[in-house]
Amino acid sequence: MPTPAETAATTTHDADWWRQAAVYQIYPRSFSDSNGDGLGDLKGITSRVPYLKELGIDAVWLSPFYPSALADGGYDVDDYRNVDPRLGTLEDFDEMVAALHEAGIKVIVDIVPNHTSDRHVWFQEALASPKGSAARGRYIFRDGLGENGELPPNAWTSIFGGGAWERITEPGPEQAPGQWYFHLFAKEQPDLDWDNPEVHEDFLTTLRFWSDRGADGFRVDVAHGLKKDLNAEVASLDLLHRADLFREGEHPLWDRDEVHSIYAEWRKVFNEYNPPRTAVAEAWVHADRRAMYASPEGLGQAFNFDLLEADFDAEQFRRIIAKNLAEAAATGASSTWVFSNHDVVRHATRYGLPKGSGRGGKGADGKDWLLEGGDPAQVDAERGLRRARAATLLMLALPGSAYLYQGEELGLQEVGEIPDADRQDPTFFRNKGVEVGRDGCRVPLPWEAAPAEGSSFGFGANGAHLPQPAWFAGYAASVQEADAGSTLAFYRRALALRHELQGSESLGWQDASDDDVLHFVRPGGWHVVANFGTAPLELPAGEILLASADVEGGKLPGEATAWVRVAR
Ligand code: NOJ
Repeated sequence: MPTPAETAATTTHDADWWRQAAVYQIYPRSFSDSNGDGLGDLKGITSRVPYLKELGIDAVWLSPFYPSALADGGYDVDDYRNVDPRLGTLEDFDEMVAALHEAGIKVIVDIVPNHTSDRHVWFQEALASPKGSAARGRYIFRDGLGENGELPPNAWTSIFGGGAWERITEPGPEQAPGQWYFHLFAKEQPDLDWDNPEVHEDFLTTLRFWSDRGADGFRVDVAHGLKKDLNAEVASLDLLHRADLFREGEHPLWDRDEVHSIYAEWRKVFNEYNPPRTAVAEAWVHADRRAMYASPEGLGQAFNFDLLEADFDAEQFRRIIAKNLAEAAATGASSTWVFSNHDVVRHATRYGLPKGSGRGGKGADGKDWLLEGGDPAQVDAERGLRRARAATLLMLALPGSAYLYQGEELGLQEVGEIPDADRQDPTFFRNKGVEVGRDGCRVPLPWEAAPAEGSSFGFGANGAHLPQPAWFAGYAASVQEADAGSTLAFYRRALALRHELQGSESLGWQDASDDDVLHFVRPGGWHVVANFGTAPLELPAGEILLASADVEGGKLPGEATAWVRVAR
């Protein structure tokens, strides 16, 4: 029997498979629960491979499935080379990879190099070891300020709210308050020190570990945060808000030029494999600096969150698409496109909010919708879904890879009404409930319309770790399977056609009659017309291959996209 790595090599004929791949993000704890403990698991994913195959995606990206206390939904990793026992075993991972590969689907795993969890053996060792020890040297420990070191080394704040430093108790019988460690995210996520060679070596081992087990690629968490300048003399809070530093690669925490030497090392490991393993950077950086992450000598691809942050607006979309395609052409990378993931409000909801979108959505007074409490009453779900389908059909026609988030193929809306007692996201706790956080897009998927008593909508036999609202029944996969007009059927058709139509990565803009319209053509006479306005639009004469809304009398309705084959 071939090893998983051999299977990966033999099923992957094309080293460039990732360049125009449709990648489906699975948030494993919320995908499918095989053993009825309320948490999704690897066997659950394996059981849904036929669904994934039918959907027509090229790859899955799995958010972390590693052992974790779930202080940050699994992005607090206890052990990088294992599976959370609640999600399965390494053997389950192998089985899942084999089943996905058998179905022609590649596997991308999530690597979290900026921080470990506080339960990681290294951090436990650091806590038990004295100041100045090698064990502390793997993290960022500093003495505090003030007479007795009672003040944090500086005033910097963490992403999830509150200070970025946590004080520890020194080992020994006195239990004396001691040094402070740095955490960009939750206090359960201590940052690693990437100036330490041991940290480098350990991640190379992890990359080989998963590559040997058949992973085809990696999604790199917080790729722009690994190198820092924590020089206390300059560490004022204002520094963190200096846009000029951010743009120039001189920000103390983000997107420093030195970070790319790490990815040059990683690239060597990726290239040890045939085909080379791929990687995509999660890097929320200034658009001009993204190309460095996507370079062929680095990670090869970087998420482009520009469309995700834009409004549903033709002008913004056109500018973003043109800029990203030009960048990709200049660097040899391929573009990436994404509207939804586990960190942002689902796009079917963002587009149904009163004031534009942005990653958290914009509520009635233009403030971040999540900061306002995520009130579902503000959402026009029908309009949101109409626009989301239009935007998705546009995205799926673009050269480059399209990243889809589980549930968007069902047209799922964000769940705004999660009771406080059920919330899990550290953003909610560290911001004292002001910002409701990201749980609303992480509610487990509805597979069936009717729950068996006491259970969930087909997610698992004993409920779901984040409760599914009653209205999820209307979005169930089983209902949509049976409906040719469903969003699921629409995604399947779009993905199948995309495979058929995709050729070279070129795109030609066509003059559009209206500022609210984008019109471009891909090779082979594949015309794409997106109507961002509300008035119906005459389509070019040809065969309508697919539209995100019903076309009547050759007219595309408002807030809709069509693919048309025009004979040349
Ligand atoms: C980005 C991940 O997507 C997010 O979910 C996580 O909270 C942070 N990185 C920290 O790991």
